[in-house]
Amino acid sequence: MADEGFEVIWLRGDRASLALEIAPAAAPVWRYFGPDLGVGVRPPAPASDLGAPAGFSLDGEGASDLFPALGGPGFGDSALRAHRGGQDFAQAFTLKDLAWPVTDRAVRLVLDDDVTAVRALIDLAIDPASDVFTVRTTIENLGRGALQVDALAAAALVLPARVNAVRFHTGRHAREFIPETAPLGRGDWRLESRRGLTSHDAFPGAVVTAAETGFDAGLAFGAQIAWSGNHAQVIQPLDDGRRRWLLGAWLAPGEVSLAPGERLVSPEVWATASDAGLNGVARNFHRAARGRLVWPGGRMAPRPVHLNTWEGVYFDHRIEDLKSLADEAARLGVERFVLDDGWFEGRRDDTSALGDWRADPERYPEGLAPLSAHVRALGMSFGLWVEPEMVSRRSQLFAAHPDWILRTPGREPVEGRHQLVLDLARPEVREHLFAAIEAVVASASVSYLKWDHNRALAYAGGADGRAGYLAQVAGAYALMDRLRARFPDLEIEVCAGGGGRIDPGWLSRAHRFWTSDCLDAVSRLEIHRGFLQYLPPELMGAHVGAARAHTTGRTQSIGFRAAVALGGHFGIELDPRSLDPADRARLAGWIAFYKRLRPHLHSGETRLGETRDGKVWQAHGERDDFLLLLYQASPSAQRAPADIVLPFVDTGRLYRLERLRPPGDPRPRPTGAAFFDRLEQAPQEVHGAWLAGQGLPSPPLRAETCAVFRLSAS
Ligand code: GLA
Repeated sequence: MADEGFEVIWLRGDRASLALEIAPAAAPVWRYFGPDLGVGVRPPAPASDLGAPAGFSLDGEGASDLFPALGGPGFGDSALRAHRGGQDFAQAFTLKDLAWPVTDRAVRLVLDDDVTAVRALIDLAIDPASDVFTVRTTIENLGRGALQVDALAAAALVLPARVNAVRFHTGRHAREFIPETAPLGRGDWRLESRRGLTSHDAFPGAVVTAAETGFDAGLAFGAQIAWSGNHAQVIQPLDDGRRRWLLGAWLAPGEVSLAPGERLVSPEVWATASDAGLNGVARNFHRAARGRLVWPGGRMAPRPVHLNTWEGVYFDHRIEDLKSLADEAARLGVERFVLDDGWFEGRRDDTSALGDWRADPERYPEGLAPLSAHVRALGMSFGLWVEPEMVSRRSQLFAAHPDWILRTPGREPVEGRHQLVLDLARPEVREHLFAAIEAVVASASVSYLKWDHNRALAYAGGADGRAGYLAQVAGAYALMDRLRARFPDLEIEVCAGGGGRIDPGWLSRAHRFWTSDCLDAVSRLEIHRGFLQYLPPELMGAHVGAARAHTTGRTQSIGFRAAVALGGHFGIELDPRSLDPADRARLAGWIAFYKRLRPHLHSGETRLGETRDGKVWQAHGERDDFLLLLYQASPSAQRAPADIVLPFVDTGRLYRLERLRPPGDPRPRPTGAAFFDRLEQAPQEVHGAWLAGQGLPSPPLRAETCAVFRLSAS
């Protein structure tokens, strides 16, 4: 192809790529983002030769800049809103420098606006193992006066014009990950959290699709913000129908003011493109997440079966009773015993004692060490619940340091669950919390922390009276990092009233997300499917709760509750001593089943699908050897079950189909369909092309049941 005299740089992954047009002293232009186009491909002409804006347009209007600025001939949301006391509000950034920290994989663009003396550093990288691009933007104040930054997008992605919808997740406490789809028209789509944390209300990411996109095929773009505080996303049309997707932390007024020479570093945004639909996006995100995790010992140990004490005993902590609970847990096959809320000094209910992180002297006269020793002697590890950012008004900590909370002058602090929020930007607060948690972890051989955060932030001013949201998240990250450095074998689960803190910002420091306080297995199915769009199953805390779910009041069988928990990191959160012997035996069977299957469940790809008769499924593993978890939540609307089309299998191979059941599962009654009755006796063979084209025949399933299959190519 003739050289048209313009320069295009590419970041190319295995299956996705991104192209920018650059020229010295010009604004870099976003040219391509999508499935990889192959080596040596170039756009036919420079961007400036292509646009012919309609009448009444300004010169230069309609550009798809990498870093859209405010005030010039670009009228969408800008990546930056900044000024100096009202001056210097209009910016225009041009390329000053470009460097490749990793050839073809990671580029840093230095963009300057000499007029307002602002610099933007844009770091773009591709991880070829996952096809996830990371984008981060840093703003530097090159001027003499302070620069107020009102908004900064970490990334301003440009998507092709044929995308037409955005799939996203909203929710509330105990009802996380409600899926919703919005058409992308001429207006904006916007989703934000100003609660000071990731929130149940708005997952900080989404998937953008085209008309043809399904679970396994079609164009799809995914992005998520690796940040555990306030966040903002907007998708809006460009003049030519393409879409710009801005993502970043949400900034409160006055929150960021940069002194001369100071920088603001945005969180990282993860972005990916796939022509393999929603599952293609999930595959890429899961791979990227696995690449980020920092496991004790360098690699993930099989995810241990948990017993979490919360819904089993709540605040009723009696050491002999807890020991007997641990005995029963160990008999069932539990591997980690997590002592939830209620263990620390003065904590009898949720009205007091947060902040006083010492074992309650009445309930634990010799500290937590005897219980921990008992648990560990049974072969389980010992985990502990903490809520470091919080303080109860009724606590020794608050009495000693009432000034340590986030607040704004003249306003009464707002309580939530009777608690206030400590200002983690203050070094003395972090120091105090580090020392307190260090002491309890060391004293009781704690190898796991469940790190909770049970309220949103309000009137969240720091010591200087200015909004303290960003600094709060940075403080929490720093505290967690310091504890991990002090205890390299410590694993951490993040939680915020269930799933209020699920985002990739935790990935280099935590190892599990508590997905929801809702243990109702029917509700959980939807919650899990939302989670799995963004993060892999081994990080998804999934517990078997009481038969009658505490949050919904609905009752489900032990088999269905366990089958739903099987799709994540399995645990139990009930008092197994209260189960009747039959259910207890079945639970032990499911625990053994999970242990047998977890190498498969937690590796390879996790693909989701659904059928017309209301079944949903999850396939875990490699395409030539995977587990299929098939769920029927509500009664089927069809007389006969729909086949399950598995488009990802190898169409040239024969698959061995095996129905798996946990040990002790009741023998099934004949279904009336001879194939499935034979399948109970011995594996059957199905051709891959049949699975992909016509589908796996499905057994008739009653409501609230699950069938587990293994399919392996011979
Ligand atoms: C939150 C968590 C629960 C439990 C309680 C304890 O609600 O999500 O799992 O830890 O706090 O108070």
